[in-house]
Amino acid sequence: MNGGLHIVLSNSRGPQTLANLVAELGPRARAATAAEAAAAGDWVVVTVPFKAYDSLPREPLASKTVIDTSNYSPQRDGGIQALDNGSTTSSELLQQYLGESAHVVKAFNNIHHQHLAVLNRPAGAEDRTALPIAGDNTEAKRHATELFGILGYDTVDAGPLAQGRRFAPGTPAYGAPYTELPSESFGSLAPGSAPAGFLSLQAGPASAAEIRALLAKAQN
Ligand SMILES: NC(=O)c1ccc[n+]([C@@H]2O[C@H](COP(=O)([O-])OP(=O)(O)OC[C@H]3O[C@@H](n4cnc5c(N)ncnc54)[C@H](OP(=O)(O)O)[C@@H]3O)[C@@H](O)[C@H]2O)c1
Repeated sequence: MNGGLHIVLSNSRGPQTLANLVAELGPRARAATAAEAAAAGDWVVVTVPFKAYDSLPREPLASKTVIDTSNYSPQRDGGIQALDNGSTTSSELLQQYLGESAHVVKAFNNIHHQHLAVLNRPAGAEDRTALPIAGDNTEAKRHATELFGILGYDTVDAGPLAQGRRFAPGTPAYGAPYTELPSESFGSLAPGSAPAGFLSLQAGPASAAEIRALLAKAQN
């Protein structure tokens, strides 16, 4: 709710199931169907288990900046051959499904929501944290960067959507940089398999320079 944004939430079960969350978030939040939320957003954040990507409403997402937080997890999502063999990425599959009039920007996928909630800082703060983004549309990346600025984050552009693999699960930029411990303290993190104690660690800032260095370490 940072930055005076109004938020429209949706899920698969219907807006009535979000009443408690809406009450908790306050008067700038409301709940709607997925199609209504997609139509309402200046920015639309898609955060569903990846296996649900082809049930998202396509028509209202046309011409929108679609921020894709998803990570593919074979255990949760079932095996998807093109992802298992590395020939494409989950965000590219979402882009294909939505069609080229929607502009997918991969972001937020490499930071746990509990860390995201506390690492925001004003522009210029010494301990401001940076988040990587990837996307094929320059204007949509500028638009996403604007949102992250409102939310209190810097942005590092990792390149086209295919480069989202540089901050996918198992890469150095995934999860670990946003904790109080150095990234090297962790092995390769996968979705849902954070090592014991990971979430009890304090969040720790990661600068744009650190994120750039970690992206460069990832194999392409
Ligand atoms: N949790 C994190 O901190 C985090 C961080 C980075 C990235 N991610 C990624 O973000 C994605 C979501 O993770 P999560 O932890 O938020 O999962 P989650 O707790 O299982 O929540 C998923 C949400 O998606 C909704 N949903 C499922 N199918 C839908 C559909 N077809 N249309 C509309 N809404 C639908 C669910 O609604 P119902 O409950 O009504 O079914 C639920 O609200 C995953 O790909 C994950 O890897 C998560």
